[in-house]
Amino acid sequence: MKSVLEFKARKATGPKISMVSAYTHWEARFLAAAPVDCILVGDSLTVVLDGEAQTFAATPEIMARHTRAVARGAGGKLVIADFPFLAARKGIAAAVDCAAELLRAGAHAVKIEGVDGHEDVLRHLVQSGVPVLGHLGLTPQSIHAFGGHKVQGKGATAAADLVRQAVAIEDAGCFGVVLECIPAGVAMEITAALGIPTIGIGAGPDTDGQVLVFHDLLGLNPGFNARYVRHFADGGALVADGLAAFAQAVAKGDYPAKGESY
Ligand code: KIV
Repeated sequence: MKSVLEFKARKATGPKISMVSAYTHWEARFLAAAPVDCILVGDSLTVVLDGEAQTFAATPEIMARHTRAVARGAGGKLVIADFPFLAARKGIAAAVDCAAELLRAGAHAVKIEGVDGHEDVLRHLVQSGVPVLGHLGLTPQSIHAFGGHKVQGKGATAAADLVRQAVAIEDAGCFGVVLECIPAGVAMEITAALGIPTIGIGAGPDTDGQVLVFHDLLGLNPGFNARYVRHFADGGALVADGLAAFAQAVAKGDYPAKGESY
């Protein structure tokens, strides 16, 4: 998938959209060669790469650096970069600067968490030619307001409020919306209500696509056991075996062999 136009068209045509959060050049090269549709340079990089507990440490500069590395390896696939913590809340001029930095680094679009209070920012970016992907539900940048990692949209009132926010995101001109950790029934309702694709993570099977973090889906983050994570490969075991084999070969003097020497 090369553009947000293709992304939007998938709502009607299928197949469902596969998106992977990735942060480095080599991850992007693997994704470029795989049948995955698009790449999200997520601010989860602070957690996955840096070992932070939250995503707050991400800045426009950090996001731009990783976006540049990913875009160079993505082989022209659609690359979406996360707006970091509070970057959409400092007014339109600051948001335009952030979007400019991310698109100059190679992103085709940006993802922005939430909608209430910054609809004008979403609309302004879209009208300026910057495609925006929305993000609702358990949006990690609002984790303290939620009182922790709690499924959002539970109960009729909270569910109706999520549907309202999703409609506001579509009204602002966004080309899609990520739905994170919400009941499957609510995600299905939002997906049916919107004319733009929904991408789920912990939102059940009835969205227009799914996103997972590269390290999570490949089993490279074995300590992280959220209910929605499926390990599509045992990357952790593969890495551990490879490292052990290297250490043993060095200890025994088996490595390097003659053919591996000058
Ligand atoms: O930062 C991220 O990787 C994300 C996805 C998990 C949706 O926002």
